[in-house]
Amino acid sequence: MDELIEQRKADHLRLSAGGDVDALGGAGWDDIRLVHEALPEVDRCDIALATEFLGTPLQAPLFIAGMTGGHRTAHDVNAVLARAAQRHGLAMGVGSQRAALRKGELAYTYTVVREQAPTAFIVANIGAPQLIAQGPANPPLSPDEVAHAVQMVNANALAVHLNFLQESVQPEGERKARGCAEAIARVVREVQVPVIAKETGAGLSRETAVRLKALGVKALDVGGVGGTSFAAIEGLRAEAQGEARYERLGVLLRDWGVPTPVSVIGAIESGLPLVATGGIRTGVDAAKALALGSTLVGVARPLLQAALEGDAAVDVWIEQFLEELRTVLFLTGSGDIAELRNKPRVVTGTTREWLQQLQYC
Ligand SMILES: Cc1cc2nc3c(=O)[nH]c(=O)nc-3n(C[C@H](O)[C@H](O)[C@H](O)COP(=O)(O)O)c2cc1C
Repeated sequence: MDELIEQRKADHLRLSAGGDVDALGGAGWDDIRLVHEALPEVDRCDIALATEFLGTPLQAPLFIAGMTGGHRTAHDVNAVLARAAQRHGLAMGVGSQRAALRKGELAYTYTVVREQAPTAFIVANIGAPQLIAQGPANPPLSPDEVAHAVQMVNANALAVHLNFLQESVQPEGERKARGCAEAIARVVREVQVPVIAKETGAGLSRETAVRLKALGVKALDVGGVGGTSFAAIEGLRAEAQGEARYERLGVLLRDWGVPTPVSVIGAIESGLPLVATGGIRTGVDAAKALALGSTLVGVARPLLQAALEGDAAVDVWIEQFLEELRTVLFLTGSGDIAELRNKPRVVTGTTREWLQQLQYC
């Protein structure tokens, strides 16, 4: 079981780094247009990207999304990303910590994040499916184990990830879900840090966002469709294992879920701070997500690819991204992120259809 988790983590990293695994339809950022301000009453050099998340100041609204841990390469990736979080004053998540909870000698692949980013906002990570029993050999994580995940990285918050699309396509997936909501509410009561409910690429509906708020979580990472598709990744793993049934599910469900912009607009109803993750690829996408009401934008796969090249590549990626974001603030006449949120926007195409048919507008 432990070896299986380690191997799976390594597969995810390899397939994400090199594979063709993004959702085919994109997130729909092209459907969102911000209105050009021909007469911006702000100097480009004065534009501030600093913001705040769960009471902590950050230098920019970019969240290095939780991805990895549990094996040697993951350690190296986490180290590079953590150094970047520290240098740029960003928040960062680690990947699911189950591997280290079950096998203590893997903890170093996660603890490196706090070592390399002593003052950054770090988010621990566990999976909602692991909060309930998945079978006799697979008991739920105990309250002590959950507390240990937080303490392992001296986390500022704990993300509980929701990944039932991935579990559905994974040949060895854990497909029991009944009781997860109550288990999340229990974790909220028991841990000492705020809990973030985090989808992983299939998005959130407005109703689910409101339910999660009622469970006591303090923020939502909408993790919408449009970027990395875990159906695609698990489909490739299934293909390699000769598991034709799951391979087919991976193909069919590659674009399953609620697109990221639609998830953000729906989740606003919860009143919680939102992280818009899923297919954010440029600073222009980020500006649109922030204008729609998210507090932060999360990026996973592009930063993984940069991290595999090293510290300098991550710096280049982040600086380019923030440059793009700053430029959109300038061209909308926004001096900071708060002003960007009040700017008008136009929603067209498929995204508009989603919003109208779900009666989000
Ligand atoms: C290699 C890889 C591993 C991931 N592992 C986790 C994980 O363990 N826990 C989690 O909450 N999300 C995980 N994610 C999901 C990301 O946090 C993010 O929600 C998703 O990849 C969409 O963002 P993107 O389109 O920018 O890649 C992982 C993503 C990647 C690429």
